[in-house]
Amino acid sequence: FFVCGVIEKVLFYLTRVNTMEKKLAEYKCDTNEAICLKLVRFPEDIEDDGTTFHPEYSHQIFGDDEVAFGYKGLQIQLFYSAGNLSTLFKVKYSSKVTETFDCVEPDDVEGKIREIVPAGFTCNTDDFISLLEKDANFKPFGTLLHTYTVHNEEAGELTYQIHKADITCPGFQEYHERLQTFLMWFIETASFIDADDDRWDFFLVFEKYNKDGETLYATVGYMTVYNYYVYPDKTRPRVSQMLILPPFQGEGHGAQLLEAVHRFYCSLPKVQDITAEDPSENYVKLRDYVLVKLCQGLPSFAADKLHLGFSADMIKEAQDKLKINKKHARRVYEILRLRATDMSDEEKAREYRLEVKKRLFGPYRKNQRELAKMRKCLRPEELVSHMGQMDTQTQHEELEKSYQVVVEDYRRIIERLASQA
Ligand SMILES: CC(C)(COP(=O)(O)OP(=O)(O)OC[C@H]1O[C@@H](n2cnc3c(N)ncnc32)[C@H](O)[C@@H]1OP(=O)(O)O)[C@@H](O)C(=O)NCCC(=O)NCCS
Repeated sequence: FFVCGVIEKVLFYLTRVNTMEKKLAEYKCDTNEAICLKLVRFPEDIEDDGTTFHPEYSHQIFGDDEVAFGYKGLQIQLFYSAGNLSTLFKVKYSSKVTETFDCVEPDDVEGKIREIVPAGFTCNTDDFISLLEKDANFKPFGTLLHTYTVHNEEAGELTYQIHKADITCPGFQEYHERLQTFLMWFIETASFIDADDDRWDFFLVFEKYNKDGETLYATVGYMTVYNYYVYPDKTRPRVSQMLILPPFQGEGHGAQLLEAVHRFYCSLPKVQDITAEDPSENYVKLRDYVLVKLCQGLPSFAADKLHLGFSADMIKEAQDKLKINKKHARRVYEILRLRATDMSDEEKAREYRLEVKKRLFGPYRKNQRELAKMRKCLRPEELVSHMGQMDTQTQHEELEKSYQVVVEDYRRIIERLASQA
C-alpha cells in the first residue's frame, strides 16, 4: 500500500508538471512574428495590415530562441513616420501570466525594447498622428549626391535621392538613433555605432512622394562608412553597415546606393581604396554587380584581353581609376571573362574552370601545407596511409562545390547586367 501510494503521488505530480508545462507553452511567442514594423505615410496606414513587416532577427534582444515568454497573442508595435521616423511604440496581448496564479514572471518585453528605441517615442496613436503631420516639414539631411527614378507598376515613375550627411547636420543625430534601431531586426550581427566620431560618413536614400499636393520625403535606406587613416596621407573608407528597408528591397536601391557611394569616394584624391567590414554574402553579390558595372568600360578589361588572364594592367587601372583593390578586381575579371566565354566550347569552359579554381584553391593549398607539417610530427605508425587520399578527395569535392556556387552567383550578375543594358 505504501509503495502504491508513493507511485500514485509521483504520477499525480508528473501529470501536474506536464499540464503546467503545456499551459505555459501557450504563453511563448515567436518574437520575429510578434514585432510589427511599419513606415507610415498616411493615417490609414496605421490600421492597414498590408503595410506591416516583421524582423528577420530578434535574437540580440530576445535571445537565441527569439521567443518572449509570458504573453498570449503578443504584438509589439513599432510604427515609424515615413520620413522623420517619429515612433509609435505599443505592446499588446490578449493575456499574460501572473506571479500569483502561475508562479512565473513574464519577460519584460517593454523594457527590452526601450533599451534600443531612443527616448522621444509616443505610446499614443493620436500623438503619433500629430507627429505624422509634421513629416510634411521633413527634409533630407546633408548634400544631394545623386537622383534616379524607378518605374513602379502601381505608382508609375518614382524619384529617389541619395544624400551624404554627417553628425553636424542639425537633427541628424536623433534621426540616426531612430534609423539604426532597424539594424537589430535585419542584420544578424548588427551593433550600434558611436556616431559622435567625425570619421563616420552617412549616405541616405529617400523617396519623393506626394501627400495632399505637397512633395514629402520617405526614408528608404542608408549606409555608414568609416574613414580609416592610411599612412602617410590617405584614407580607406570602410563600409560598416548597409540597410535598405524591407518594403524597398529588390528594387535596385542597394545597387544605386553602393554605386553613388563608390563614385563619391573615387572623386576624392586622398582615398586609397574602398573596403567593407565583415561583408555578408548579399553585400558581396551587390558589390560584385556594381564593380563590374563600373569596370566593364575600362580598356584593360576589354573582351579580347580577358582570355589572356588576370593582368597587372587590370589591377592598376581598377586601382587608379576606381579605387578598387586587387582582390575585388580579380572577381570582376572572373565575371567579365565568364560573360565573354562560350561555355559550350569544352576547351574554353575547361580553361575558365581552371582559372577560377586556381584562385579558390588558395585556402585548400594552405590546408594541405598545414597537414604536411602535422604529418612530420607524427610517428610513421600513427600515419593512416589512406588519410591523405581521403583529404584530397574531400578537398576536390569541396572545390567543385565552391566553383559551382561562385559561377551560379556570377551568372545572376551577368543576367542582371543584361537586363539593365
Ligand atoms: C543587401 C541589401 C542592402 C540589398 O539591397 P537591395 O535594394 O535589395 O538591392 P538591389 O535591389 O539592388 O538588389 C537585390 C536583388 O534584387 C534584384 N533586383 C533589383 N532590381 C530589381 C527589379 N527592378 N526587379 C526585379 N529584381 C530586381 C537584383 O537583381 C538582386 O538580385 P540578387 O539578390 O539575385 O542578386 C538589402 O537587401 C538589405 O538591406 N538587406 C538586409 C541587411 C543586409 O544584409 N545588409 C548588407 C550587409 S551590412
